[in-house]
Parts: sequence; structure tokens; C-alpha cells
Amino acid sequence: MVHTSVLTKKVIKYLEIKKNGTYIDCTFGGGGHSRAILKKLGIDGKLYSLDQDPQAVKIGKKIEDPRFKIFLDKFSNIERNLQNVKNKNKIDGILLDLGMSSLQLNSHRRGFSFMNDGPLDMRMNPKIGISVCEWLKKTNLKEIEWVIKNFGEDKYAKKIARAIILQNKRKIIKSTLDLVKVIKKSIPIYDKFKHPARRTFQAFRIYINQEIIELKKILRIIINLLSSGSRIAIISFHSIEDRIVKKFIKNNSTHPTIPKGLPITEIQIKKQTKKKIRFIKRIKPTISEIQKNPRARSAILRICELR
Ligand SMILES: C[S@@+](CC[C@H](N)C(=O)[O-])C[C@H]1O[C@@H](n2cnc3c(N)ncnc32)[C@H](O)[C@@H]1O
Repeated sequence: MVHTSVLTKKVIKYLEIKKNGTYIDCTFGGGGHSRAILKKLGIDGKLYSLDQDPQAVKIGKKIEDPRFKIFLDKFSNIERNLQNVKNKNKIDGILLDLGMSSLQLNSHRRGFSFMNDGPLDMRMNPKIGISVCEWLKKTNLKEIEWVIKNFGEDKYAKKIARAIILQNKRKIIKSTLDLVKVIKKSIPIYDKFKHPARRTFQAFRIYINQEIIELKKILRIIINLLSSGSRIAIISFHSIEDRIVKKFIKNNSTHPTIPKGLPITEIQIKKQTKKKIRFIKRIKPTISEIQKNPRARSAILRICELR
């Protein structure tokens, strides 16, 4: 199954793609957004894409276009990938389409899906770090509960964590559907329209791929990487990510004010001249897009610009 990109037209519109501009797609995935950016670029335009998933990068390597280059890496390492790149100091726009792709979700052996059986892995790069199964073997009740509570916002975090620890003492949970069974048994009642394992799977995926740490790091990097007039487009899929993006925009949108009459120190001057961003727009998918692509349902696109 291919990945259907979310809010593509809006991303292209609000990135205001310049024909000879230089752009970065931090999350190549199935390449839908990257291809749409390439279509808008002229002969002197450039697009640098990244993905930490070797499968995604394999797809990207098939694009034969001198204006395009793809890197296999976490987006928090973007600067080292751009080291030898022309125009690295003149980036016109950057896109982050967070979370996982349908390619990852539908590939059962990657272990992202609570609907299909597969090894309990969930790593976006299976060569880096440890799988969810390995982590659950060595962690403790408190940590599992914390992860489910904070990254899954599940009110049954404690019950689920306890059930996982108990089950792992009997027999190690090795597959996605084994984990689903444990979760279902541990929850007293559940909404029949919402899968009981959805929140725990989201939480474990976020934790194992360090998604929140990655997001915070890239937001810090973006401010220094981009220059005045550059555009930032960020698509998030759950409230935890969106809150971080919102806070980033808010914190960087206001200039610190120095009370009248106070002597201005060097630190204060630095603070005042710090790059700031201007919030442009928050966009949600239309009903018709959601009908065509249910994955778009929870997407929120935020656009801003460097001042
Ligand atoms: C929602 S998909 C992107 C889909 C893409 N925009 C498209 O149009 O096909 C998210 C992608 O980002 C990648 N990803 C997530 N976190 C990452 C990170 N910290 N560094 C690099 N890639 C990451 C995932 O591997 C996944 O392929």
C-alpha cells in the first residue's frame, strides 16, 4: 500500500516555493510531499530530503533528479548532512510531516500495527536502538506506566503496565497481537469505536523512536538554520506533538521587552536580536480529504516564517 500524503496542496501553497529556492523535507516517507516540491522547483531549485527509515530512503534513491538528494538519518542530524551542500546558508523552506507513514504501518514485520501480527519492534530504523520487545524485557513498571501515560495519554496506563510486567514474567511478549491481548485483558471497559491498544502502541512508538526529543531538537535547529523570509511547515498528528509546536511558535514569536529606564546589558541585546518567527496559519484537512484519506483526520498543519 502506498502512503497518501496529507495536506499536500496547502503545504506547497504556504511554503511559497520559489523556482530557484532550496528546500528541506525532513520526513521523506513515501515521497509525496518531496515530489510535489520538486514539481514546483525550476532548474536551479534544490530539495534535500531525509528519513531515518532505510525503506523510505530506498524509495527516495529511485528519484533520478539532479536537483534532489536524500539522506538516511534522523532529522536532528540535519546539519551534518548539509555540511557539503551548496546553498546550506540559504534555505527557503523546511517541512516536517511527523509520525509514521502508511508504508511503515502496513508492513507487518515492522511491528507498528495493532491490527496485524508481527514482531514487536516499532523502530523506524531497525538497525538503530532496541525494539519494543527488548525494551519491555529490561524496563520496569514505573517506566512503562510513565510512557503510556505521557505519550499515549491513556487513563489505564497503570493497569496496562502492570499486565505487561506480569505477562513478561510468565512468557515474553514478542508479537504485536500478543501485546494487544494483554492490553485488552487489562482494561475494564473500552470504547468499541476506539481500539483499546491504540494509545499504548502510539506511546511505545513515540518512546522507542525518541520522537519528542527529536521534535524538540529539530525546532531548536530550525531557528538557526533558516534565514529571514524562510518558511516552516509542520504537520502533527496528535496533541502531544502539536502542543510542542504551538509552544515553539509562541515562545519565538514574542520579543522580550525590557522595562523602561533599565540599562540594556549585552545579554539583553543578544536576546532582542535573536531570530524570531511570525505565525502564519493553522490548517486542518477538509472533510473531503479525510474521507479520501482517513489518516488525515487528526492532522494539523502549522505554518510560520522567519522574521
Ligand atoms: C508521515 S511520514 C512522511 C510522509 C511523507 N511526507 C510523504 O509525503 O510521503 C513520516 C516519515 O518521517 C520519518 N521520520 C519520523 N521521525 C523521524 C526523524 N526523527 N528523523 C528522520 N525521519 C523521521 C518516518 O520514518 C516516516 O517515514
